[in-house]
Amino acid sequence: MSRDPIRILLVGAGVRGTMWARVIAEAPDATLAGIMDHDEARARRARDDHAPGALVAPDFAAGLVGSEARADAVVIATPPATHHGLVSRALAHGLHVLCEKPLSEDLGEVADLIARADAAGRHLLVGMNFRYLPSSQRIRRTVRTGELGALSHAHFTYNRQRDGNRDDLNDYVMSMAHPMLLEQSIHHFDLLRHCYGAEVDSLVCDTWRPSWSTYEGDCCVSVLFRFENGVRANYLGTWTAAWNRMDFRWRSDFERGALIQREQFEDLVRVDFDRGLGLRGPNFKSDADAETPVAEPLEPCVPFVDDTRALLAEFLGAIHGESDPVTTAGDHLETLLLVHGCMESLESGRWVAIAELRDRFAPPRAPAR
Ligand SMILES: NC(=O)c1ccc[n+]([C@@H]2O[C@H](COP(=O)([O-])OP(=O)(O)OC[C@H]3O[C@@H](n4cnc5c(N)ncnc54)[C@H](O)[C@@H]3O)[C@@H](O)[C@H]2O)c1
Repeated sequence: MSRDPIRILLVGAGVRGTMWARVIAEAPDATLAGIMDHDEARARRARDDHAPGALVAPDFAAGLVGSEARADAVVIATPPATHHGLVSRALAHGLHVLCEKPLSEDLGEVADLIARADAAGRHLLVGMNFRYLPSSQRIRRTVRTGELGALSHAHFTYNRQRDGNRDDLNDYVMSMAHPMLLEQSIHHFDLLRHCYGAEVDSLVCDTWRPSWSTYEGDCCVSVLFRFENGVRANYLGTWTAAWNRMDFRWRSDFERGALIQREQFEDLVRVDFDRGLGLRGPNFKSDADAETPVAEPLEPCVPFVDDTRALLAEFLGAIHGESDPVTTAGDHLETLLLVHGCMESLESGRWVAIAELRDRFAPPRAPAR
């Protein structure tokens, strides 16, 4: 079925905005109508590389008055401190919005934006694109179908040596108090919620900064999650690892087997648990003694491109009224409750009940549109 392309403005043409420029420009049912960045050279570069006909402007307000940029929607890929102002302005202008994460560091601002989007009758989605990685989708499907039985517990580790001084990385994270939590762990917490189809009941967290880190704030995060359905997840994430090889592992143990993701964007294996082997088998001193993990077939995927394409498709489908979006600001608030729960646990040194935070910050559920 043919449909008119959705005209999209892009605010921010840095590391992430450049990716968005490519994905929007390549989408058959979208037009990249304008690119706005305080650094106009960046906006021009993104235009020249991806959308030669797009308007370029130094800021969102100037872009909005450019007549060529008549738009239906905006994608915002600027630093988090700018999100509340830009999203409010876009909604007031009647645009649908897809904003990068975190929607705001301030939960009150997030609740405010959800209320504004509801009042304006516009969609507000957030950049939780890792949900659309084939590995994430496969884990989610295994949980939903129950093919390995009930989920018991998980171990999620992300060890990365991300030198903040690299030229090709953003600068603003260097001075954040919680760069790891707000910029990276937020994706991992979202994956745990989304793939397990469950909300967190409570958590206890510690964050810290090794003295040799390139970041000013806490770049190491350790959390124990207790989900409402009883699942436990143990999380460790760091940008200050002592090995330059990216070391990612996400293991989910079910009643009748396990899924083990051994690389950040691929290499998901499944173990079918042989219960009797524990009695009759050898002493399990080598891999050969135990069940053989089998690779889960995954769709080919270019990380950050194909998952972003899928998120854009969700946004466009919602704007066309063809499907209800799930990666919404309301859903994102649940992930942000976990981030803030971590900060509260760090302060108090105690377990934090997420329901109590939700009562404080989540607006009453809006009737389904
Ligand atoms: N979802 C993902 O996979 C992913 C990956 C990377 C970054 N991000 C998110 O994308 C956002 C941007 O990160 P980045 O790495 O691209 O940062 P960046 O610093 O590389 O780029 C930000 C750009 O925004 C511009 N800018 C800042 N304020 C502006 C304003 N008010 N109006 C117009 N332009 C403005 C800057 O000049 C800069 O070019 C952040 O929220 C980050 O968390 C998401």
